[in-house]
Amino acid sequence: MVYRGGLSPRVVFVGEAPGAAEDRTGLPFVGRSGRKLDAAIERLGLASDEFGVLNLLKCRPPENRFDPRAAATCRPFLDRQLAFLRPSLLVSLGAHALRALDPRAPPILRAAGVPRTGGPVPVFPLLHPAAALRSRRWAERWDRDLVELGAWLAGGVAQPV
Ligand code: URA
Repeated sequence: MVYRGGLSPRVVFVGEAPGAAEDRTGLPFVGRSGRKLDAAIERLGLASDEFGVLNLLKCRPPENRFDPRAAATCRPFLDRQLAFLRPSLLVSLGAHALRALDPRAPPILRAAGVPRTGGPVPVFPLLHPAAALRSRRWAERWDRDLVELGAWLAGGVAQPV
C-alpha cells in the first residue's frame, strides 16, 4: 500500500491509513472515500500525472484506529516518498494528516480551506473525504474548501518547479 499517481506530481494528497479496500488492492484511496477524493481531483482539473495520493500509515491499523506510534514508525517512508516526489503542494486529508505535516496547525475545522505556507512545502488542509460522506454539513464544507483549493491552484502558487 504505497502510492498512486504521477512520478513528478504538482500536488500530493496525504491521507491517514489504508482501509479494507486499500488493503485488498494495495493502493491508497480506492474505496468510498477514494471515489469522493477522485471526484474532487477531477473537479480541480488535475491530470493523472499532476497529482499523487498516499497515506501516513502504510498498513491498515487494527479496527481502522489511527495509531500515532504506527505513524511515527511509518514517518521515514513518508519522508522518503515526499523527497522523491518533490510536490509543489501537499493537501492534507483530515486531522491526523494535517498534524503530521504541520504540527503547529490549528484544529482541522479552523484550518481546513486555508493554505499554510510556513513550511518548506505549502500545505492545504482539507477535511477527510470520509467526513464529507458522513453528513450534509461536512459535504458542504468539503465543497467550499475545494473551491478555495481550486483558486489557490489557479493562482499559480503550485506550479511545477
Ligand atoms: N482513508 C484514508 O485515509 N486512506 C485511504 O487510503 C482510505 C481511506
